[in-house]
Amino acid sequence: MKLWGGRFTKETNELVNNFNASISFDQKFFKQDIQGSIAHAKMLGATGIISDEESLAIQEGLKGILADIESEKLEITDEYEDIHTFMEATLIERIGDAGKKLHTGRSRNDQVALDMRLFTREEVKAVDAEIKELMAVILRIMKENTNTYMPGFTHLQKAQPVTVAHHFGAYFEMFKRDRSRLHDIYERMNYCPLGSGALAGTTYPLDRELTASLLNFYGPTLNSMDSVSDRDYLIEFLSALSIVMMHLSRFSEEICVWNSNEYRFIELDDAYSTGSSIMPQKKNPDIAELVRGKTGRVYGSLMSLLTTMKGIPLAYNKDMQEDKELSFDAFDTVKGCVSLFRGMIDTMKFNNERMEDSAKKGFTNATDAADYLVKNGVPFRDAHGIVGQLVLLCIDKGIALDDLSLEEYQAISPVFKEDIYEAISLKTCVEKRLTLGAPGPDMMDKVIAICEEYMND
Ligand code: ARG
Repeated sequence: MKLWGGRFTKETNELVNNFNASISFDQKFFKQDIQGSIAHAKMLGATGIISDEESLAIQEGLKGILADIESEKLEITDEYEDIHTFMEATLIERIGDAGKKLHTGRSRNDQVALDMRLFTREEVKAVDAEIKELMAVILRIMKENTNTYMPGFTHLQKAQPVTVAHHFGAYFEMFKRDRSRLHDIYERMNYCPLGSGALAGTTYPLDRELTASLLNFYGPTLNSMDSVSDRDYLIEFLSALSIVMMHLSRFSEEICVWNSNEYRFIELDDAYSTGSSIMPQKKNPDIAELVRGKTGRVYGSLMSLLTTMKGIPLAYNKDMQEDKELSFDAFDTVKGCVSLFRGMIDTMKFNNERMEDSAKKGFTNATDAADYLVKNGVPFRDAHGIVGQLVLLCIDKGIALDDLSLEEYQAISPVFKEDIYEAISLKTCVEKRLTLGAPGPDMMDKVIAICEEYMND
């Protein structure tokens, strides 16, 4: 069923109908379509474009349709081209002639621009809420692990000792920036395109301020051609979602590495891991792998929409209908990934001994040994060379810097004294790192207090 048969003399080809139709996916925003239509009908009544009785009849009719869809008394069927057509036809069927006036001063172009914006606006908030919940778990882990030592890596080589609190704190900051991006996007997108018509507004005296405020927008958009053809807000959102996934994917990669037999830094809960159909010993980090894998899918939706939009002349073109399936898929994928990832890290256990042992064995205190020499008057570049020689000696003997005898130290530099052992102990190495943002527990406590304030905002 169509809204535009008047100037046609032939039926549409069946394949064309199917190719053109969007109802199979745009029914996802039936609520927003009704919400927008109710606001439009109120405004048409308030401005006298239609009578108050007609406006009320339309509003009541739409509310009835909403209730019936929600209670599954009314089914959205594929015989209509899109959700907009379905709604209008059903309204007319239910309330008669008044229903035929709903579309006065409106086009499906501004209607779909509105519906998608209303839908996406809620999704921005929903993703934001999911990320905040994930951050609460990260913060809980940080609070419990300011003294849990682990090696910090660069080039995936053990570098300097850090703590679990510090490592997780890095992700806290990333997700904080993700939320701030979502906030900016919301602020920019929250303007109402309704009343832009097909592209050039309308000759009816619509009150666009009224519809914008009825729908909780900051105000109406200012150019009707832009309003019906702007999909920037979606591209920005997909870009922000891609960055969220990039962060989750890096985190997932670390979970896979830490969970491997070689590392065993963590153990994933049975509820969040899977087995192999052939190898009985296996406990695989499938959730982390899938989150990492689904990152490509979300990047794909961003690339897809950017490419769809790049050659479209003003104003509305049907290409834009392609914005929906990929966006819905990306929204659902990201919400699912954030929430599963949260459950996975909330239930995993840290193997503190393994991590500490690994930090001790990887010469992560070599910089501190050089700093010890510097504090005792040796220029840093010389100190670097001396400790390099000590490391070579240790590699040769298969031991850590902590295990060399004082004689061995002094054979390479007489500056070393008995207090070297204290100076390069893991505890000292971490505790003395007290610059702002460093892993020293006293500093970490201060940063955690700031994170807590952020979460209470
Ligand atoms: N299904 C269409 C879309 O998603 C709705 C707008 C249709 N407008 C039109 N002029 N055909 O973009």
